[in-house]
Order: sequence, then C-alpha cells, then structure tokens
Amino acid sequence: MTDQPADINAKFTPRVFSGIQPSGNLTLGNYLGALKRFAEKQDQGIETIYCLVDLHAVTVWQEPEALKRQTREAAAAFIASGIDPDRSILFNQSQVSAHAELGWLLNCVARVGWMNRMTQFKDKAGKNAEKVSLGLYAYPALMAADILTYHATMVPVGEDQKQHVELTRDIAAKFNHDYGVEFFPSPAPLIEGAATRVMSLRDGSKKMSKSDPSDASRINLTDDADTIAKKFRKAVTDPAPLPEAIEGLEGRPEARNLVNIYAALAGMTPDAVIGEYGGQGWGVFKPALADLAVAKLAPISTEMGRLMADPAEIDRILGKGAAKADAIAQPILEQTLDIMGMIRSR
Ligand code: TYM
Repeated sequence: MTDQPADINAKFTPRVFSGIQPSGNLTLGNYLGALKRFAEKQDQGIETIYCLVDLHAVTVWQEPEALKRQTREAAAAFIASGIDPDRSILFNQSQVSAHAELGWLLNCVARVGWMNRMTQFKDKAGKNAEKVSLGLYAYPALMAADILTYHATMVPVGEDQKQHVELTRDIAAKFNHDYGVEFFPSPAPLIEGAATRVMSLRDGSKKMSKSDPSDASRINLTDDADTIAKKFRKAVTDPAPLPEAIEGLEGRPEARNLVNIYAALAGMTPDAVIGEYGGQGWGVFKPALADLAVAKLAPISTEMGRLMADPAEIDRILGKGAAKADAIAQPILEQTLDIMGMIRSR
C-alpha cells in the first residue's frame, strides 16, 4: 500500500466527522467513548459533523417503526449530551445521498483481502458468515465514504472502530495513488481519555454493547437512577479491595473497568481515582460510582425524554442538518466522479 505524503492533511480544513448507529438503546460506552467527546470537540471550536448512520443500521434487520424511534432517540441523546445543532451539523445518513454513492465508488477501491481482515465483521458474522447481509461485509467501505465525503481529517471513536478508520486511510491512499491526485485526506482516529473501551458489567473481557442480550451488562442512557445503582451494585468484580497503586489493576479487568468509568465520568485520571479510593472495598466504591453516574446521566435522560415528546421538532433538526451536510458532501462526490472519468453533463 502506498502511503499518503506525511503532510497531506495540511491541505484540508480541520474537520471532525463521526457517527453512531441508531440500532438500539445507546449505552454508557457510547456516551463516554463517543458522545461526550463529540461535544468536547464542538466546544473546542472545530467544525464538527455528526451522523446517525441509519444505512449502517440496516445491515442487520431493523423493524421500520423501531428504526425511526431509535434514530430520533439517538438524535435526542446527541443534543442532551451537549451537541448544539446550530454549532455542529447533526443529521441522519440516508438523507444525504452522497454517502451511498461514494460508498459504491469506494467498494471498487477497497480490496476483498482488506475487508477479510475486519475483526468486527468476523465477530458479528461469527459462524453465520454465509447468512449475513452483503451490506454487513461492505459496511467498512460505507464508513470510509461517510468520512471521506466531507474530507474529514479527524474521527473521534472508541477503540473498537480504530481498524475501520485505518481502513479508511488505506482506501483514501489507494484512491489518491491510483488516480494520481491528492484528493482525499488521511483521517486520524481520535481515541482519547480513560474510557475508550468500556467493558460489560457482567464480563470484563467483553465490550459494553447495545446488542448484548443481558441488559444487566450495560448502562443505557435511558436507565433511571434506581436501575443504574442496581446495575453497578451487581457489577461482577473480584473480591479484593481497590489497589493502592494503579499498577495493581494489572490482570483485574473488571476493577480496571469500573475505575476507568469513574475517571471518565468525573473528568479525572484513573491514577487520581486510585489516589482517592485505593485500599477501599467495593462496598464503598460501587455506591460512589453509582451516585456519580446518576448525577451525570440523569440530566441527559431527562432532557432526552423532553426532546422525545416532540418528534416533529427532532425531524426538523435532522432535516436542517442534512441540508447543511449535503452542501459539503455533494460537491466532493461530484469531484470524485469527475476524477474517476464519469461524464457530468446534466
Ligand atoms: P457504534 O454505533 O457501534 O458506536 C458508536 C460509537 O461509540 C463507541 N463505542 C464505545 N466506546 C467505548 N466503549 C464502548 N463499550 C463502546 N461501544 C461503542 C464506538 O467506538 C463509536 O465511536 N461503525 C460505527 C459507526 C460509524 C462511524 C462512521 C463512526 C459509521 N460511519 C464514520 C465514525 C465515522 C459504529 O458501528 O459505531
């Protein structure tokens, strides 16, 4: 693979793009790994574009009415987490056709060998690889299109999406190389903070996920205070107290996870959390964590409830965001088609 010139991104305006699938309840993992950081990027004054990726969601079956509700609920979660639709572009993917069109073009750039290395496809398809949709397999090329149709240079994501952003860089580099252009940037995955991989509350070796069959494994952004407290109280841990020094978390994934969650919610480093709670038992730490989580999440779920009471207003916000997104994406799609030799005469 030919690498891009080291300074390729200097040619482009700094721009953030990221997306979340509206495929179910958003979790504390989505909040700490993505939403909270999306709002921080917006507040740093960078141009930010955030997308509810409904075209990605339908790579597995979605009941149509449920998809609509989940898309609105995810939009409400963005706004309740601090995304301001006047300062960030917030929209759902299917309202901007450049995503699907560039997705096709990039399917023709990506190599089957690259797709075969995608660990998320292997995890999701499991033993059922013959029966999953073709879309699930092609999904990472659509994700590359999401990012590249805005010439985005930065992509804040959780750890699990790193490989897909790296694939996006490979696709951009191959396109630029094959057509002899410096047209696409080399977007950087931004994986920052204490909670880049929030783990299941039932199994410290598994990611917290909206698709886990066990509801006790995750905190949903819509959970009420009692449910949040109960889930943390029942979180699986080893019996030892918290260590006196951060190195003592080595080989204790469940303890590390709860410390990381506390740190990310409190805006502290894990080191500082150990400084405060080192030597304490779970009987002290779990209630403190539950109180902190409720204090941070309750305003979000209350605001989500308020926004969900007016779905027409959410749809209006998404429509307005889509028009702004389209104004950036469509010219980049047109230029891509031109570079590839498609006649543009309409
Ligand atoms: P999705 O919908 O699975 O997750 C959305 C975001 O939340 C992060 N995340 C987590 N972070 C920390 N701990 C966890 N347990 C956890 N679970 C989820 C994810 O890393 C992600 O940042 N393919 C993407 C959506 C997408 C996208 C894009 C992202 C489509 N196009 C373009 C960036 C740019 C996905 O399925 O994310």
